[in-house]
Amino acid sequence: MKKNITFLGIETSCDETAAAVIQENEDGSANILSNIVSSQIKEHEKFGGVVPELAARAHIENIDFIIKKALTESKKNIEELDGIAATAGPGLIVCLTVGLNVGKSIAAFSKKPFVAVNHLEGHALSPGLEHNLTFPYLLLLISGGHSQYLIVHDVNKYEQLGTTIDDALGEAFDKTAKMLDLGYPGGPNVEKYAKLGDEKYYKLPEPIINKAGCNLSFAGLKTAVLRESKNINNDIQLKYNLAASFQYTINQILKKKTKEAMKQFRSKTSLEKNIPFIVAGGVAANQSIRKTLSQVCEEMNFNPLFPDIKFCGDNAAMIAWAGIKKFKKKLIDKLDFAARSRWPLDPDAKYLKGPGVKL
Ligand code: KG4
Ligand code: ZN
Repeated sequence: MKKNITFLGIETSCDETAAAVIQENEDGSANILSNIVSSQIKEHEKFGGVVPELAARAHIENIDFIIKKALTESKKNIEELDGIAATAGPGLIVCLTVGLNVGKSIAAFSKKPFVAVNHLEGHALSPGLEHNLTFPYLLLLISGGHSQYLIVHDVNKYEQLGTTIDDALGEAFDKTAKMLDLGYPGGPNVEKYAKLGDEKYYKLPEPIINKAGCNLSFAGLKTAVLRESKNINNDIQLKYNLAASFQYTINQILKKKTKEAMKQFRSKTSLEKNIPFIVAGGVAANQSIRKTLSQVCEEMNFNPLFPDIKFCGDNAAMIAWAGIKKFKKKLIDKLDFAARSRWPLDPDAKYLKGPGVKL
């Protein structure tokens, strides 16, 4: 195999149109030649959330420009690439299809290998863009659509320890922001206004905190925020107190569940100390969560690793990187690979969502 491997990555699974050119060096480290992300915040702001058809249209309008910009900035042309990677799921099919089709077309006309990437695997392997990591490690993936504890055994080999049985954590942040009228995007605004409030003012529920291993649940907390928000009557300080109490409760839940996940990790692997604990996905940008989880790591003898903010949210650098890792394992895909709305990292994990779920 060649010494350096260079991939173009394309990401359009939700509301970011992104392209990046990443090179893996001989020593396994990453060289970020370009990393272009175009956010659609403006398009969705007035609706308070992502509108799939609008998102797809914006991807179509932007994708050519974003890919050209990524190639120009990287000073590479398509001929110099070793392959193309595009997100193929999970996500909104109308959105995924845009980047996936463009990626497949570039691979077809340039006769380069094509790798269909699982967006969650992109997040899971993203710490490799900045650190030389060894497997296995413990991963907490917290994004707008997913909240999971996973053992990352290797590329393409994941073991789910826990997942949310209802809302994803990012979704809970976004809905709380909406109920408190804190604007869009929700997560960063809840964090911002929580700083101005009293986190002990409201006593909010901590669903399933003492049962169901390291599975998570946020629906009951969201309902409690909704109930309290109706009694605020535009009192701005109460609003901040509720944002702060919500974030405090999330931290309490994550503290307890992360300790449980760490115990499970230890009993399933032979590793004892200095185990990497990675927090990835959009919510990993939250500073109060980072602080809480760093304290848990100290207590439990794990090494916390948080990706740089630019690699927490959706980006194509992580997609190109996952593409390179799969390519090296000869996991190359055919050009008829179809977009998937659901694509669990651990195919053996029990599906734990919806009414009647048994814990
Ligand atoms: O990974 P990501 O960019 O997209 C998905 O794959 O879902 O995550 C987006 C989620 C949104 O729900 C957003 O509100 C949340 O991450 N988020 C945050 C923060 N920054 C982004 N949540 C809490 N605090 C933040 N600072
Ligand atoms: Zn994501």
